[in-house]
Amino acid sequence: MSDRFPEGFLWGAATAGHQVEGGNISSNWWHLETQFPGLERSGDACDSYHRYEEDFRLLADQGFNAYRFSVEWSRIQPELGWFSRAERDHYGRMMDGVRDMGMQPVVTLNHFTMPQWFHAEGGWEGPRALDHWQRFLEEVSPAVADVEHLITFNEPNMLAVMAAAAKRAAVGEHRGLPAPDEATGERLVQAHHAAIEILRASTNCALGWTVACQAFTPVEGHEDAYEAHKRRWEDIYLEAGRGDDFIGVQAYGSQPVGPDGPVPADPNLPDNTLTGIAFRPDSLAIALRNAWDVGGHVPLLVTENGIATSDDALRIRYIDGALSGLLDVLNDGITVRGYLHWSLLDNYEWGHWAPTFGLVAVDRTTFVRTAKPSLAHLGAIARRGRLS
Ligand code: GCO
Repeated sequence: MSDRFPEGFLWGAATAGHQVEGGNISSNWWHLETQFPGLERSGDACDSYHRYEEDFRLLADQGFNAYRFSVEWSRIQPELGWFSRAERDHYGRMMDGVRDMGMQPVVTLNHFTMPQWFHAEGGWEGPRALDHWQRFLEEVSPAVADVEHLITFNEPNMLAVMAAAAKRAAVGEHRGLPAPDEATGERLVQAHHAAIEILRASTNCALGWTVACQAFTPVEGHEDAYEAHKRRWEDIYLEAGRGDDFIGVQAYGSQPVGPDGPVPADPNLPDNTLTGIAFRPDSLAIALRNAWDVGGHVPLLVTENGIATSDDALRIRYIDGALSGLLDVLNDGITVRGYLHWSLLDNYEWGHWAPTFGLVAVDRTTFVRTAKPSLAHLGAIARRGRLS
């Protein structure tokens, strides 16, 4: 059993445009935030739109070799018929900046948001959705042509959950988290495959998408219910990645599935996280094994794994637990190319600021960044290439 991570393993952290940039006024999320009083505003977020070099430096100084971020379609195409060359160049400068600090950019083309005009046309189910998406890809591909790992969609299964929730809200229902909307899911699979075709022809990137992997486990005697649930929530999306160069695995927690669906976690456990999910660092290994089997042995990349907590010592325990599971997975011969922690910064968690996932705290008024001990802890593991 080796306690070493492979040569060339990617070590980094991840963010997403709308969660850190600030001022994404042309995106559908900005509009959502103004419509629903229960949602906090993203506002200036972490002002990473201007402070991105400072963000890169935090990682580079600790010896990390990768940074994942996303481009905001709504900045590049704020209106139908208008592509901003200046905004495209902004993201090009970010990619250069990451490389200048000796790291590899891992870039997401769509991280949950869409331009408001695209949303108003029906979003991913709109009649011209695929045409608009393809035009955007043609426009953006010169800027991303040399990115080593390029992600089409972040968590299409969660995008399909959001679509299902929006359909419910439209008829006045607001309870719970619905299952992924199947029509949207199918459309996203088509959009992903169309993107792969365009990007294969126009870039040199390794291409893939990332899936929200929920590390489901069967309640004994209910394997069929578990399989059906797992299929609808994530396996369809892992299967859609079979022809890709890599599959991004994103894992946070784990849930047993019984005859009535997922069994809710005990809300009173002392180490529950700020998003209400249980402390389950072992979820990463469960998720990786399922993605490897269902994805047909396509190489994996951990594109997100982390914990919402205000207790950084708990974050460190979570990281150690998750990485020890990752070592077991590697020792079993599963290909995993890297580990990108979610998240670099305490950022805008889709409607809320309270769940803090960052290795680095951010003052919401001055934007001053303060590294937490977990940043140096993970950095030391990255530099050593081993856990202990
Ligand atoms: C997601 C997103 C992130 C979230 C993270 C924590 O994958 O859900 O990529 O944007 O912030 O997962 O909930």
